[in-house]
Amino acid sequence: MMAVVIREFGSPDGLEVVDLPVPVPAPGQVRITTEAIGVGGVDAVIRRGTLAAHGFREGHLLGSEVAGSVTALGEGVDASWMGRRVWAFTGLSGGYAEQAVASVEDVLSLPDGLSGADAVTLGGSGVVAHFALDRARLAPGETVLVRGAAGSIGITAVQLAARGGAGAVAVTTSSAERGGRLRDLGATHVVGRSGEGGPDAPSGFDVVIDVVGGPQLPLFLDRLNSNGRYVAVGVVGGQPPADFGTRLMAAFRRSLSFATFSSDTVPGPDRQAVRSSQFADAARGDLRTVVHETLPLDQAVPAHRAMDAGKVFGRIVLTP
Ligand SMILES: NC(=O)c1ccc[n+]([C@@H]2O[C@H](COP(=O)([O-])OP(=O)(O)OC[C@H]3O[C@@H](n4cnc5c(N)ncnc54)[C@H](OP(=O)(O)O)[C@@H]3O)[C@@H](O)[C@H]2O)c1
Repeated sequence: MMAVVIREFGSPDGLEVVDLPVPVPAPGQVRITTEAIGVGGVDAVIRRGTLAAHGFREGHLLGSEVAGSVTALGEGVDASWMGRRVWAFTGLSGGYAEQAVASVEDVLSLPDGLSGADAVTLGGSGVVAHFALDRARLAPGETVLVRGAAGSIGITAVQLAARGGAGAVAVTTSSAERGGRLRDLGATHVVGRSGEGGPDAPSGFDVVIDVVGGPQLPLFLDRLNSNGRYVAVGVVGGQPPADFGTRLMAAFRRSLSFATFSSDTVPGPDRQAVRSSQFADAARGDLRTVVHETLPLDQAVPAHRAMDAGKVFGRIVLTP
């Protein structure tokens, strides 16, 4: 089968299209003939070699999120899975391939009307957006800022916050054109990456959902209202300054909260319940997914170049 591996850590040119044996599902797993493969920010991080200390090696088969049809069952898997159209989380490897395996607990049937491309755009990121807002206890009428809103996590967070009755949904983004697209999805105020501009934007926020992190994180901690809650869900801009906690302590009398959130800490059945509900919403058109571009699997190099160049709004999808 065709697959894409990391021949050499670093630039997208280090990715290589190879021929690999078709994987055999282990007990409790299914094999999926893929029709859509999500290209996520974490794939770029692994490709660059940033996570080599965590055991990722050259030769790694990238990809964590696929949609397709179940074509083989491992021992102990209920026969009713055979032939179903599904979304699946494959772990942090194995997705960039014509055939992928996943544990049956990480597989979900697709509702009629939801494309594979939409499923791999929403499946992982929608759950992060949902539980991040839940942990932040966003209440109707409160103001929220989604930092790094133009990715698939932010795009869902903006829609969920608007739907939940937020008093204002502000976003950071790098261009007016992207800001306009985010307004179409429910954003009420658009500010620049450093929080500048948007003259009518609230000066403070009750909740910040942050996909970016990086050196400018303290600027956004300063924008929390009293009793405000900050939830960091990603680090696309790198790690924050080591001493950012001193900002929180300096504002002691404003009762601010800072939390990290990883969907790994949500029990699997809870994740699947939210995902299932979001898939149904998306199939009905009540939740929008944004597929930036669909490319053939053997075009993983240009897909990663587009990600590195910051050109992607939403998510790139590969198709075998
Ligand atoms: N918490 C969890 O459970 C969980 C699960 C999966 C993934 N993640 C994490 O989530 C992140 C990926 O999320 P995603 O796919 O939604 O994001 P993404 O598409 O990679 O990036 C979102 C947006 O952030 C902005 N951005 C990029 N670099 C920036 C920088 N240096 N400074 C300021 N803004 C910048 C860009 O928008 P503009 O150009 O418009 O500013 C970009 O479109 C990764 O860090 C990944 O590890 C977390």
